[in-house]
Amino acid sequence: MDRPPGPPRIERLTAPQPSWLAMRRALWPEGGTDAELLREMERALADPGTCVQFMAFFGAQAVGFAEAAVRRDAVNGATLSPVAFLEGLYVVPGARRQGVARRLVQAVIDWAVGAGFAELASDALLENTASHAMHRALGFEEAERVVCFRRAVP
Ligand SMILES: CC(C)(COP(=O)(O)OP(=O)(O)OC[C@H]1O[C@@H](n2cnc3c(N)ncnc32)[C@H](O)[C@@H]1OP(=O)(O)O)[C@@H](O)C(=O)NCCC(=O)NCCS
Repeated sequence: MDRPPGPPRIERLTAPQPSWLAMRRALWPEGGTDAELLREMERALADPGTCVQFMAFFGAQAVGFAEAAVRRDAVNGATLSPVAFLEGLYVVPGARRQGVARRLVQAVIDWAVGAGFAELASDALLENTASHAMHRALGFEEAERVVCFRRAVP
């Protein structure tokens, strides 16, 4: 990917954008239809006291996004409640290992600090070892491992 020199530009999102939707679909392929994802994005944008969204750009090209929210229920691994939670983080394959996630997470940290939080919680699937490595590199410590179960009833 051609990119201008220097770090990515980070912008707080204020409206749904096609590239945000495309990256959300890539991160959450089973997250619903485009219409459902868009409704979710609009709900989140309408609640800036709870949710925040950032997009990273190299020049005019969107290369990643981060979403965070205030979670008021108990959160695995968090020591505080309510707590700021990193809900989603995605960088397009051609822009990885160039510090994009690092910048996006810093934007989320700045938002969390500004909102008065002393902790940022997050999670990752057990098999997503790249995400585990990234979390550790960005100052997170592993707090807990969880396996989710379900069964049909009766
Ligand atoms: C995980 C992800 C967000 C990382 O984004 P990124 O922009 O490449 O990360 P950065 O370049 O900011 O990396 C910061 C540090 O994290 C670590 N890191 C990042 N990706 C890594 C990988 N694949 N393997 C090992 N360490 C990694 C490194 O220490 C890196 O610093 P370095 O490049 O100077 O060594 C990106 O790979 C991605 O979008 N993956 C698919 C979606 C996903 O898994 N999202 C997280 C869900 S919990």
